[in-house]
Amino acid sequence: MPEADDTKGEKSFYVDIPQKSEPFFLKGAKAYDWGMQNRLARIFNAASGRTVMLAFDHGYFQGPTTGLERPDITILPLAPHADALMLTRGILRSVIPPALTRATVLRASGGPSILRELSDERIALDMEDALRLNACAVATQVFIGSAFETQSVINLTNLIDRGNRVGMPVLGVTAVGKEMVRDAKYIRLAVRICAELGAAFVKTYFVPDFETVTASCPVPIVIAGGKKLPELDALRMASAAIDQGAAGVDMGRNIFQSEAPLAMIRAVRAVVHENVRPEEAYEMFLEMKQRPA
Ligand code: R5P
Repeated sequence: MPEADDTKGEKSFYVDIPQKSEPFFLKGAKAYDWGMQNRLARIFNAASGRTVMLAFDHGYFQGPTTGLERPDITILPLAPHADALMLTRGILRSVIPPALTRATVLRASGGPSILRELSDERIALDMEDALRLNACAVATQVFIGSAFETQSVINLTNLIDRGNRVGMPVLGVTAVGKEMVRDAKYIRLAVRICAELGAAFVKTYFVPDFETVTASCPVPIVIAGGKKLPELDALRMASAAIDQGAAGVDMGRNIFQSEAPLAMIRAVRAVVHENVRPEEAYEMFLEMKQRPA
């Protein structure tokens, strides 16, 4: 029998104060259900509206990538400094401690190795397993202009349909084939296709005229880092992307292949979340490299 609500005194209904109803902070996401928004709010920081995702899913097609031979040694120290980890379920289960409460974005496609045609991917993760692993989003690649373009787009739409049933956001990743020009025209096309088909956010490469890419994409964009650059150049790229409307980075090699990965991820955070200029962030990087805290 529940106890009677017989506390002495008046109840407070605050009848003259309207209930707060704040709009959801993320671009294009205000119509989503609570679970979808909550997952996105674990990836994107509500104060800055941005995210620093640490990408280390490269092994799903190229095996033990340089810097990822032992993710237990190289990645775990970085993980608390990321807003979200982008990884495969294999590394999540085998290496990442469940007590680490960072958001996770699970690689959900796969198939061909680096030895084959990479665009020939399939969905390689059951949505039920993504839920079991408490993922905040799942990711698949589209290969616009490649041999298996349509198949990769259907992978994306199937994943979105499955995600929408359970409130799981889908990250559309735009892959650029070796023979393709990596310019704003191509990136606008690939990114917009992902958004039109229902991706909650999109990952792509930074290119000149990037503001036209972000302006024509109705959902948040995060940039991949790409091949390892000198640290200052990588910080300049992240900063330019943010200035031109990116909602963060999903950076891998430019962090875990850095000569000082912990200093680098902290410098990237300063650029993304605090609008620190890249030159200043680089000074911070050099200092943290000398004196890792
Ligand atoms: C590549 O296939 C993976 O999806 C990576 O997550 C992505 O390329 C970002 O990593 P990086 O910054 O090393 O390019």
